Amino acid sequence: PPGTTVGPDGALVIGGCHVEELAERYGTPALVVDENALRARARRYADGLADRWPNSRVAFASKAFPCTGVYRVLSDEGLGIDVASGGELTLALAGGADPEGLVVHGNAKTEEELRMAVDAGAGLIVIDNFDDIDRLERILAETRGREQGVLVRVTPDIRPDTHEAITTGQRGSKFGLLVDQAREAIARLRGSDRLRLDGVHVHVGSQILDTEPFARAVEAVAELGEFAVYDLGGGLGARYTYDDRPPTVEEYLDALVGVARRVLPAKARVVIEPGRSMVAEAGVSLYRVVTVKHSGAETFVAVDGGMGDNLEVSLYGQRFEAAVATRVGGGRPVRLVGRHCESGDVLSAGVPLPDPRPGDLIAVPVTGAYTYSLSNNYNGARRPPVVMCRDGESRPVVRRETYEDLMRRDLV
Ligand code: LLP
Repeated sequence: PPGTTVGPDGALVIGGCHVEELAERYGTPALVVDENALRARARRYADGLADRWPNSRVAFASKAFPCTGVYRVLSDEGLGIDVASGGELTLALAGGADPEGLVVHGNAKTEEELRMAVDAGAGLIVIDNFDDIDRLERILAETRGREQGVLVRVTPDIRPDTHEAITTGQRGSKFGLLVDQAREAIARLRGSDRLRLDGVHVHVGSQILDTEPFARAVEAVAELGEFAVYDLGGGLGARYTYDDRPPTVEEYLDALVGVARRVLPAKARVVIEPGRSMVAEAGVSLYRVVTVKHSGAETFVAVDGGMGDNLEVSLYGQRFEAAVATRVGGGRPVRLVGRHCESGDVLSAGVPLPDPRPGDLIAVPVTGAYTYSLSNNYNGARRPPVVMCRDGESRPVVRRETYEDLMRRDLV
């Protein structure tokens, strides 16, 4: 499967670690991350952008995988971090993120969250609405002497071809300001003593599989005028299945910078915020088969996880490949389902698996993005651990939840 290798015994190897040993040591379900793959992807992005546009920065859109282990690795690789809440901000700082590289997002940032961002010394706060401006003015009036860099998020009315729930730049989106209002915000910020308008931001959606919407988004921000910073958002699709053909990182950067060279000021700084495409392929979910059921023409292979640890299928109809992790390849199509109490709890419909049996280890690759972050306790599920593997060594960066964890907030 994409993003993994197979050892001589036919079993999956992740970051040099044998899959069965990982499952025995950490249990299942578990989310395993190939640390070198993650680091390589970070460098490919950062170097790729810097080669094409030297005054640039890659900020990881951390909503895709917000745990301290990931913040640490990507900060160590020199990336900035995009956070979208006080929670992500707290985790990012705990993971060693450099405050100067923080880009703070949110369409409903509370006063408390804005204060956290200012106090942390966040490099950029993204203005999504006029209340953001009022609140920040107020907060900065209290913290005398400090100037805060901000960007204005524009909604350019671009609708990429992806799942409706993850388009963000169309007219009618709750995110950002339509062009006229963005101009008004820009004018207001130019008159501010405490807020320093560094530039503009645009993000049009996620899991985008062609480069055209990105190119149009660059043109849209260019029309707002000359600034020091242009943050062009994220959104590049990941390769989940053999059939998916998203643009490569290089094709994406070529398209973006190709337009930027034409329409942006040469001295400006370009920021991008990849989330999904940074982490998706570095992650593999491991499960055990609990039961196999033949029902009419269908074979149901039910595992010990599901929509508690991966909502991509139920929420967005995302397709995943899967394999019996110790004998990869071959087999007949089955319906790989989870253990949760609803029929939408599917991991992969119609995936070929070679005679799966109870106790078999199942690997679902390309699960690094938006699985951990959307994991939940439906049916009292305990959220799985995150394990980093590198050069044959594994280390847990998040432990599995316990039943005690489940009761921790209940006032019994
Ligand atoms: N920048 C901003 C301002 C964003 O809102 C997002 C994603 C990104 C960057 C990163 O986009 P990416 O490169 O990951 O496509 N929960 C959904 C995904 C929602 C994405 C929201 N914003 C899912 O699980 O598919």
